[in-house]
Amino acid sequence: MTREQSTNTLADLIEPYLDGIERDLKQWLVEPDAPAELAEAMRYCVHGGGKRLRPVLVLMSCAAVGGDPRAEPPRRCAAAVELVHTYSLVHDDLPAMDDDELRRGRATAHIRFGEAMAILVGDALLTRAFALPATLREPPGGPLIAELARGAGAAGMIAGQVADMGLCTVPEDIEGLNFIHMRKTAALIRAAVRMGAICAGADDSTLDALTRYAENLGLAFQLTDDLLDVVGTPEQLGKSTGKDSAGGKRTLIAETGIEQSRRRCTELTRQAVVALRPIGDGAGPLRKLAELLAERTH
Ligand code: IPE
Ligand code: IPE
Ligand code: MG
Ligand code: MG
Ligand code: MG
Repeated sequence: MTREQSTNTLADLIEPYLDGIERDLKQWLVEPDAPAELAEAMRYCVHGGGKRLRPVLVLMSCAAVGGDPRAEPPRRCAAAVELVHTYSLVHDDLPAMDDDELRRGRATAHIRFGEAMAILVGDALLTRAFALPATLREPPGGPLIAELARGAGAAGMIAGQVADMGLCTVPEDIEGLNFIHMRKTAALIRAAVRMGAICAGADDSTLDALTRYAENLGLAFQLTDDLLDVVGTPEQLGKSTGKDSAGGKRTLIAETGIEQSRRRCTELTRQAVVALRPIGDGAGPLRKLAELLAERTH
């Protein structure tokens, strides 16, 4: 390991992107005519912390293939993906779903504003997300919106959430777990990475490589989330722990144990890094991000 690699932390790597992401989320979040109460609840959910992993992935992926991450297209896509992610958390926490009271270190939306407003905030964030790339002309917004819809939709993240809630049939074995994780978590991460690369005009083979990176990273990310639910603390994570076993969720830990789960996470991270090989030097930050996420503690 070089000195630079050994001193970098996840926070160091993400930090240079954060100001811009926060600024864009602020300026693009709410249309002026939205009711003040709704706007307040939207701001509460979006500006209440969060690692901003998905917008960072959009910007890093754009830069990895020679695009300018400061240009408006990747910035609009970055904000859009974070809005979809934030909506997914608001709904994921609802009593009918995971029934959580703590999110990003604060009361969940339904605890703070009531269940009806939490449902509607989620609706508003999801809808707003699609308006952000819609104004783009170069590259055109259409394919970017289609990518986001695929990641977020009924064959993507929602399919994963339906499976996670036990509302559809999923195989019993590790394949079933992969099915859930690929959809509920990796699908939106894949959309983020692909949208960044599409903004930079990436060709199909580059998009394929980045897709493999994102899918492996997404699977590893959910495994770590499940590990932290067992070994982390609410102070560290900003959300309740021990929820997965209490809620009877299927996890690799429950099925194979912590050690096996860590090993699989390491292997998926390795596969994510290997997938980046055809991209070359520009993919350095994406590689580093995958490595540091595997060791994350929140
Ligand atoms: C949590 O995502 C939900 C999962 C898909 C595992 P994050 O861990 O990225 O949540 P924030 O955005 O940092 O709060
Ligand atoms: C969430 O998975 C996946 C989403 C699409 C929101 P979890 O239910 O494990 O996420 P946390 O642990 O509540 O953040
Ligand atoms: Mg859930
Ligand atoms: Mg949850
Ligand atoms: Mg979890």
